[in-house]
Amino acid sequence: MDQDQLKKAAATAALDYIEDGMIVGVGTGSTVNHFIDGLAAMKGRIAGAISSSEASSRRLEALGIRLFDLNEIADLPIYVDGADEIDGGFCMIKGGGAALTREKIVAAVARRFVCICDASKLVECLGRFPLPVEVIPMARAQVERELARLGGSPKLRDGCVTDNGNLIIDVHGLQITDPRSLESEINQIVGVVTNGLFARRGADVLLLANADGVEQRVAPATEPSRLR
Ligand code: 5RP
Repeated sequence: MDQDQLKKAAATAALDYIEDGMIVGVGTGSTVNHFIDGLAAMKGRIAGAISSSEASSRRLEALGIRLFDLNEIADLPIYVDGADEIDGGFCMIKGGGAALTREKIVAAVARRFVCICDASKLVECLGRFPLPVEVIPMARAQVERELARLGGSPKLRDGCVTDNGNLIIDVHGLQITDPRSLESEINQIVGVVTNGLFARRGADVLLLANADGVEQRVAPATEPSRLR
């Protein structure tokens, strides 16, 4: 199986988590696109979706899935999204598709975060994938200086403007041994909107596809209260 087939396998496995009448939080990216396509086949059974990006909204709408405004719902049972890297503690780097801020907002509301990945995304230590940081445009140079002080090599992502009208700085060369602390530290830099570390709110379930099938891993710390 090639990587895209593995992404599709993980996305298809996530459909088993969808229950009748649910509003489904939907992430962004090529793995999630397979999930959206699968969701469309069962759209009559769900109430609709909360989207994490303009790209996912367009795909959901095109397939006839009703979109809800996050501010209008009090309870979101599930959020399904991919990752650029995930470690054994269910911490992730996300934002390869520049949707990290809205993804983090939807994930914060959701009771259960189901991460769907091909096996290449599982790493011992986060940081080989450059860490995306969303930045208010007028703060770019100052934020780059601060990120360099943390030991990384910040590089502005060429031609990228986020759905929120901001820029993305990708930080190369980090070895992230304490993702929770680094997530907080970067978020304290003035001008940073958010960064792509999803450690303080990591995944609850990882569906990891390899040539032998889709392995389900459940985060011990989030069971069972978070899952209700
Ligand atoms: C988008 C993301 C994606 O989840 C991440 O980039 C993985 O993408 P893909 O499924 O295309 O490999 O965080 O901002």
